[in-house]
Amino acid sequence: MGINWDSLTFSLTPTDTMFISTSDIDGNWSVGEYLPYGDIKISPAAGVLNYGQGLFEGLKAYRTKEGKITLFRPIENAKRMAAGARRLCMPEFPEEKFLEVMIEIIKRNIDYLPPYKKGSLYLRPCLWGTGARLGVAPAPEYTFIVYASPVGPYFKEGFKPIKLKITTDFHRAAPRGTGNVKAIGNYAGGMLPAKKAKSDGFSEVIYLDAKKDLYIEEVGAANFFCIKGDTLITPPTDSVLPGITRKSVMQIAKDVFGMEVIERAVHIDDALTADEVFATGTAAVISSIGLIEYQEKEYIYNNFTVGPKTEQLYNYITGIQLKEIEDKYGWIVDVDI
Ligand code: PLP
Ligand code: COI
Repeated sequence: MGINWDSLTFSLTPTDTMFISTSDIDGNWSVGEYLPYGDIKISPAAGVLNYGQGLFEGLKAYRTKEGKITLFRPIENAKRMAAGARRLCMPEFPEEKFLEVMIEIIKRNIDYLPPYKKGSLYLRPCLWGTGARLGVAPAPEYTFIVYASPVGPYFKEGFKPIKLKITTDFHRAAPRGTGNVKAIGNYAGGMLPAKKAKSDGFSEVIYLDAKKDLYIEEVGAANFFCIKGDTLITPPTDSVLPGITRKSVMQIAKDVFGMEVIERAVHIDDALTADEVFATGTAAVISSIGLIEYQEKEYIYNNFTVGPKTEQLYNYITGIQLKEIEDKYGWIVDVDI
């Protein structure tokens, strides 16, 4: 296959097999098929193409030191996709079948699962309105599709701290909108802010709330955390995506490290005066933030090195994912090949 495991980035490497199942609007899903990865045929009048009736998920499979294969909290992805389906008037894909397909996709693409600590196999389940309809209304037919790609770090810095910029030019989501579901339509609007930030030397932007422009929401595709003393603070998920990594980190911080964990609005000043700040996500894992720019001023954290508490949390969550730390929560699904 000629994959250089040492130079993986977060980009698409097509694998052998994808999964496709279709349904009517009532959720009568077909058994589905495992097909060679490739292009699909779709109506130009499909709901997903015309009105953005689509959702996606992201989850990772890892190879442990002993050569075992793990999947991190897949049922959480199934549940989040089901919540998004309800919001976008799509049929839910059943949880047990979701898990079965994830495992089968890993097995059928096993040659693409990177070696221990060289990366992971990223699974991308999508739910789309693929039936044709001209008016703005739910499509008559739906497709659930899963493909996979070996991936490396989301940010080119890897585990080194990243630089972010608080944008006052753009918002990502509005109260009572779709910011808290993984709707495909939430992402295109973030491309221009990210492009501008990158051309100024930043990895991404941090979005503020759309109502007051005073509170941190999240990073382009990751949740935001700050640490002050022994307290871990993160914004609530009203218009922010309820990240699975976010939820896991909050639990670990409380149970394992005895931190006080608070979910509340994070004022810009709070974030700028924190001891440590980081972003979490399936793709981003835990990415330490070394610098934030706001209104042309730069704020540096922990001398631009990974903070001690951020590192502890990173080691713990990745330890669970790689079966090096006991998974007392039952978060890991073992995949037997
Ligand atoms: N926020 C956004 C907007 C995202 O796209 C993601 C990625 O999934 C996250 C946060 C982090 O969520 P998770 O930890 O479930 O991957
Ligand atoms: C993820 O972390 O899985 C994401 O979906 C982020 C992104 C690539 C949009």
